[in-house]
This record gives sequence, C-alpha cells and structure tokens, in this order.
Amino acid sequence: MKTNRLVMDLLQNQNDRSNPAEILVKILGFSAREKDSEINRKLMKTLLLKYSDSEKKLVELNNLKNKFLGIAAHDLRNPLSSILGLTEMLLDESMGPLNDEQKDFIAMMYSASEQMLALLNDLLDISAIESGKLDIRQIEGSLYNLVKERISLTQIIADKKDIKINMVLQEVPEFEFDAARVSQVIDNLISNAVKFSQPESAIHVLLETAGNVARVSVRDEGPGISPEDQKNMFGEFQKLSAKPTAGEKSTGLGLSIAKKIILAHGGKIDVENAPEKGAIFWFTLPMKGNTA
Ligand SMILES: Nc1ncnc2c1ncn2[C@@H]1O[C@H](COP(=O)(O)OP(=O)(O)OP(=O)(O)O)[C@@H](O)[C@H]1O
Ligand SMILES: [Mg+2]
Repeated sequence: MKTNRLVMDLLQNQNDRSNPAEILVKILGFSAREKDSEINRKLMKTLLLKYSDSEKKLVELNNLKNKFLGIAAHDLRNPLSSILGLTEMLLDESMGPLNDEQKDFIAMMYSASEQMLALLNDLLDISAIESGKLDIRQIEGSLYNLVKERISLTQIIADKKDIKINMVLQEVPEFEFDAARVSQVIDNLISNAVKFSQPESAIHVLLETAGNVARVSVRDEGPGISPEDQKNMFGEFQKLSAKPTAGEKSTGLGLSIAKKIILAHGGKIDVENAPEKGAIFWFTLPMKGNTA
C-alpha cells in the first residue's frame, strides 16, 4: 500500500524535482516489490521524459556556453592585439628612448599580453571544436618539411633550458593535411616535452610511415606519465602531476585541442611511458591523397 502511494505520487507529480538518477533508484526499488507492469510502464515513461528534458536543457546550456566563450574570446582579441602592437613599438624604442627599468616593465607587459592572446586563441579553438565548427583545411603538403620547420622554431625555447632536440625523420610522400593545425599539435607536443623536462635533457622526434599512415612521436626524458594521469591526459583544463620545471605557463588545454585536431584528420594520438624514463607522445595521420 505504502509503495503504491509513492508510485502514484511520482506519476502524478511531473514537476517532481528529483533528478533522473533518483527516480531510477525509486523505480528499481518499486519494480523489485511491485509486479504491476502498468505502473512500471508509466514510471519508465516518466523517467524517459525527464531524461530527454534534462538532456535538451544541457545541450542548450552547452551551446550557450560555447557561443559566449566564442564571442568573449573573439571580442577580446582585437583590443589585445592593439596592446601587443603598441607595446612592441614602445619596446623597439620607435616612440623614443627608454631607460632599463622602463624596458623591463614594458617587456613584462608584452609577454603577459602574448600569454593572454595564446589563451584566448585556445578558448576560441575549444569553442569552435565544441560547436562542431573546427575548420580543417587539408591541402597536399610535406609533413617532413613541416616537422623539420617546427623543430627548428621550438629549438629556440628549448635552448633557454639547454635542451637538445634530436630528430630522425623519414622522407614521407606528400599527402593532404591541415598544415596550420598539425603545426599546432607538433608545437604543443614539443613545447610540453621542453616544459616538463629538466634543463640539459634531450628530446627525440621521430617521423616514420607504416603502410598508408604517417607517425610522429616526441620522446622526452622528463617525469613520464602516471597511470592516473594517463586517463585524463587529453581532457580540457587538465593540469596534471607534472609541473613546468622553469616557471612556464600551463593552462591544460593544448592536448585536448591536439586530440580534436588529430581525430578530425582521421588519425590517432596517445601517450606511453618510454622504457628508460620520460614520456612518448605520438600521433598518426592517414596519408590521404597520396598515390606514391
Ligand atoms: N611530456 C610530458 N611529460 C609529463 N607530463 C606531461 C607532458 N605533457 C603534458 N603533461 C601533463 O599533461 C598536462 C596537460 O598538457 P597540455 O599540453 O594539455 O596543457 P599545458 O601544457 O599544461 O598547457 P597548454 O598546452 O594549454 O599551454 C600538463 O599540464 C602536464 O601535467
Ligand atoms: Mg601544452
């Protein structure tokens, strides 16, 4: 009797504030005791209605969040670019000479603005990716040249920590990929290897092919990845147990963006621990359009 009253309450009260999981627990309790299939059927219908309602609301809220994130990041980018341009002019001393202290202060303003711009660009990427608007423009090009170019550019940040980037690059026939987006992935993997390793260590970049797939891997001699961290490695805003070793910035967005870029190309990205020490981050790209 008592159970029946509870069931009826639940059915009549469509505005019941219990969450779907609580209702499910109630249903499981009822169905264990009740043999009345009509009641169970109605309960299931109520549950499904509530589920689809909450799901709709979640999707709407998530879209709103992405839209807001996109607008905010986009509209902040222009004024920030002006600040960057103006501080650069001041630093160049094209507006007149500066004393050492003024130069130091303006250099700090410049680097803070650069970091803000990088964060805004990451937020714009996340917003675009989440709302399904990540634009991947795949054009035939040389992955070999691209990897070489990115290594020489990131060697500049590695030099600051006396880290040497070794490379073993196999010549790869040209195929279709988005060079700007793949650069973003390579830069993040190499800059992570630099950021989370001790000075005077080494990084090893490998480019090879297997069948119709190109594979790039970046091995470092840093702390490696714990099994716990491995699970969260490619999620958003994941700053895990490895911390930058020389005060570099860490937002925890790079790998989540990298994963979306590689998946959009039909490739794979993952990490494993190196046999000695350190981590090996790797990704693959199908060599689309390659007829060689
Ligand atoms: N090579 C690595 N060795 C050890 N831990 C790493 C390595 N690369 C990444 N991690 C861990 O994974 C986390 C996420 O990396 P991710 O590139 O997404 O973010 P980030 O480098 O902290 O910031 P961002 O890339 O947004 O500037 C890092 O904060 C770090 O804890
Ligand atoms: Mg990173």
